Amino acid sequence: MSAPQILSTGRALPRRVVTNQELSQRVDTSDEWVFSRTGIHSRHFCQEEHGLDLAQRAARQALERAGLGPEDIGVCLVATFTPDFASPSDACLLQQRLGLLEDTVCFDLNAACAGFLYGLKTAHALLADAPRPYALLLGCEVISRVMDMDDRNTCVLFGDGAGAVVLRRREDAVWHTVCGSRGDGQSIWVHGLGQGRPLIHMDGKSVFRFAVEVVERSIQQLLQAEGCGIDGLDLVVCHQANARIIDHVAKKLKAREGLFYKNMDRYGNTSAASIPIALDELVEQGALRPGMRVLAVGFGGGLTWAGALFRWDC
Ligand code: ACO
Repeated sequence: MSAPQILSTGRALPRRVVTNQELSQRVDTSDEWVFSRTGIHSRHFCQEEHGLDLAQRAARQALERAGLGPEDIGVCLVATFTPDFASPSDACLLQQRLGLLEDTVCFDLNAACAGFLYGLKTAHALLADAPRPYALLLGCEVISRVMDMDDRNTCVLFGDGAGAVVLRRREDAVWHTVCGSRGDGQSIWVHGLGQGRPLIHMDGKSVFRFAVEVVERSIQQLLQAEGCGIDGLDLVVCHQANARIIDHVAKKLKAREGLFYKNMDRYGNTSAASIPIALDELVEQGALRPGMRVLAVGFGGGLTWAGALFRWDC
């Protein structure tokens, strides 16, 4: 067996912070409504920055903390559904900015909010046959770019940001994963090229029902594979879409208070970036220690979902 070992983390957020109060000057909403329905108070929106600027800052931080240079990286993946360009990929542009070597495997991956965990599985598989033993994996989103700022159903939910990890493959470690998708173009979608300005549309109730179903099921499957109960976990890092989704699942699983990490109050839903941003915050707080049993789970447009249970090891 083998498993990915996360060696370091990094994150970058745009400078501009947008509060619910500020959004209520544009659409008919309030801090009370948004916070009670979602757990979100504020989020960051790019103004002068591009997604690539965030990706570069997060990646440099993760590389520095791992004590590695661009010449050590064999795989570079960016999980995103809001890249700066349709082509080239964020990953190739990041390669140029960081000076990664020419034989580095570089591409973007779109599994919406499940993208980071799809990326973890992909990077781990690619490292088996990579020119160098380290991978750079990012979740990077500029969702403000595809938001209808006059639609109160969606404009209060999302935020921009990037999170990065440096990985290597450990041959003597075990992890468990689940991954899935359910072709569904109705619950949440963003128009593609040639279909006018891309804007996010969502049937919130249907996504909510889907999310609580697949998050709970994924956690149960991972616990069964590991042979432990919910109390055997040290930390659950769920995609930070909505505090009510997390609280609902935590209650159903009878999880102890504080087991599920939450930080959407300050970032909103940053899609593929939410899990690596949360991991970076947890590392900074000293809340992740070697040997801890960590479960991460994400869900999003597609509809997609993915989960992983592993030992924290850095
Ligand atoms: N402020 C005030 N009122 C609002 C707002 C707002 N920002 N947004 C909607 N409302 C109104 C609606 O218009 C509706 O009014 P009406 O009854 O007069 O029509 C009322 O509030 C209730 O709306 P609901 O949609 O029933 O509100 P709900 O309690 O379901 O919460 C929410 C909506 C927060 C979107 C919820 O459904 C949700 O979180 N869904 C999951 C979304 C998600 O997690 N997406 C992430 C995955 S997406 C990805 O991969 C990119």
